[in-house]
Amino acid sequence: MSNQKAEFSEAEIAVHWREEPLISPPPQFIGQANLTDPAIFERMSLEHFPECYREYADLLTWYKYWEKTLDTSHPPFWKWFVGGELNACYNCVDRHLPGYRNKTAIHFVPEPENELIQHITYQELWVRVNEFAALLRDFCGLKKGDRVTLHLPMTAELPITMLACARLGVIHSQVFSGFSGQACGERIADSQSHVLITMDAYYRAGKLLDHKKQADIAVEKATQEKAPPGKVLVWQRYPGRYSAETPPVKGRDFIVNELLPKYRGQRVEPERVQATDLLFLMYTSGSTGRPKGCAHSTGGYLAYVAGTSKYIQDIHPEDVYWCMADIGWITGHSYIVYGPLALAASSVVYEGIPTHPDAGRPWRIAEELGVNIFHTSPTAIRALRRAGEDVPSKYHHHFKHMTTVGEPIEPEVWRWYYNVVGKKEAVIVDTWWQTENGGFLCSTVPALKPMKPGSAGPGVPGIHPVIYDDDGKEIPAGTGKAGNICIRNPWPGFMQTIWGDDERLVKQYFARYCKDKNSKDWRDWPYFAGDGAMQSSDGYIRILGRIDDVINVAGHRLGTKEIESAALTVPEVAEAAVVPIPDEVKGRVPDLYVSLKPGVTGDGALAQRISQAIETQISPVARPRRVWIVPDMPKTRSGKIMRRVLAALSTGGDPGDITTLANPEVVEKIRTQVAQR
Ligand code: WTA
Repeated sequence: MSNQKAEFSEAEIAVHWREEPLISPPPQFIGQANLTDPAIFERMSLEHFPECYREYADLLTWYKYWEKTLDTSHPPFWKWFVGGELNACYNCVDRHLPGYRNKTAIHFVPEPENELIQHITYQELWVRVNEFAALLRDFCGLKKGDRVTLHLPMTAELPITMLACARLGVIHSQVFSGFSGQACGERIADSQSHVLITMDAYYRAGKLLDHKKQADIAVEKATQEKAPPGKVLVWQRYPGRYSAETPPVKGRDFIVNELLPKYRGQRVEPERVQATDLLFLMYTSGSTGRPKGCAHSTGGYLAYVAGTSKYIQDIHPEDVYWCMADIGWITGHSYIVYGPLALAASSVVYEGIPTHPDAGRPWRIAEELGVNIFHTSPTAIRALRRAGEDVPSKYHHHFKHMTTVGEPIEPEVWRWYYNVVGKKEAVIVDTWWQTENGGFLCSTVPALKPMKPGSAGPGVPGIHPVIYDDDGKEIPAGTGKAGNICIRNPWPGFMQTIWGDDERLVKQYFARYCKDKNSKDWRDWPYFAGDGAMQSSDGYIRILGRIDDVINVAGHRLGTKEIESAALTVPEVAEAAVVPIPDEVKGRVPDLYVSLKPGVTGDGALAQRISQAIETQISPVARPRRVWIVPDMPKTRSGKIMRRVLAALSTGGDPGDITTLANPEVVEKIRTQVAQR
């Protein structure tokens, strides 16, 4: 591949992968599937674009039908379903009451196995969302367009909070609960959130973690950035009992469960919002140090996740659907909360880790709840397989459909998922997409296309991918060459902008392959995804991984720059460079190289402090595998750190041509150092 950076990222996976044989979907799956009409591809071809997306928007209930399907007057800020009015909470809750009042909307499964599972019906969800929305409106004074940061763990209160915000037209910004207080504070400040909503504690790997202390750090950080939230609302993990160590701060922190009785029986009319009004922000990592807030619309986003949930996830109202992702990531927003609930499914929210207390836990949950659609990541699949190859065979769960998302999946791992977890009864979709996108971009349509282990498949209906080389020439299918995957056309799920930074949206995703920046024709604005990919002759696409400075650790998307800047806050550190290292379970883990300021020497204690700084500022998921304190960084003559060389040294590989470096001698020194460990 001509792109140098991609050489050391994930391309090596492709080299070892041969073309896999196709596997047909099981006939009993096809028999019941939502989408079995091959004409869908014709209906959603570019010829019928953009009107073809009416089909998705018509899955929703609108207060006012839209006037214009796609407005391209301000490229690349595409506007979908312009003039339409709707409410996301109404679409996910209220409209299901006549038909499904007593059906479970959310099964909340606590991590401790002796705690009862809560089955929250649509009626109960409606009541709880209304009461909490009344509290947000009347106690916090929140109104349409305000932002609220959520730092909530995986309990039922998280979707309840999101839906209550959506009911009021308040923009929620949920930060992954595993992220540190500082990371949360940064996001509060960036979004100028009026309120922070958190929980006192939650279970993780058998321990009740104090989570409220993160809120104290978050508020401190946001205050430093001159954007303190006005109030902090704290849900109790055990209503009526406060499980955190630090007491609530007077006048700032309020216990939700103490306030709620005042709002009992209150109902809040859903706010009619424009299709283009924002539903939520989701912060994600990019190639600069600061995370960016992907700003998702109400109408386009909800239409897109409802459509893809119906046709790719094959969700019917009678299905019990479990996506084991965290709602703190886009997968959880689209495919635990908004997509499944828009279709009146029962969606499982599981608090803990999949291997607690043992690797049989997911299958016991699936058995108990009758889960028939299962959705997870390659990292979780690898971890469960490692913890016991035969464990799933001991259980009586039956899936009709399974999903993998978030990272490339090795064909061998795919086959274990298919044979052992799915018992050869379930169809698998490998769904490729991103936070920015709102919903799936590449995947097979499960009843219409065969599966190919390790390949995401072609674009989903309505999505038209293309692979460009570095010069903007199309790489045809079947050439065996990798390039940069782009999407030719806009689609309704794509974000409206990056919060507060329109320019970055243009620069990051469109500048690279824009054919004419004065054009108002969407055909001139392909979307640049930032992933390397190759397409085999049958049109199936294999995703090779990021070509930018993003590292995907256990499916968590982290910026190498974010990790590096956290390391640089340690006073002794002069330079820092992160490289992704293959890991059997997590896919990738970061190795960190640092050089120290002149006159400073380092030891294990310093390395420990650097690791700690990363944990505190970002999250334990970002902790480096190793911190290498090196005499100098290998650099180009223009002073650029050669991460490719460091990556090769970390994995014992060949660093390639180093003669162009300004300091080639340092490579040998680092190699010796790494070899000694
Ligand atoms: C990677 C997660 C291979 C990819 C939904 C992308 C994948 C990044 C797949 C986005 C897949 C996601 N196969 N790689 N099926 N799905 N990726 O924003 O590198 O957290 O750019 O969204 O994950 O991660 P994000």
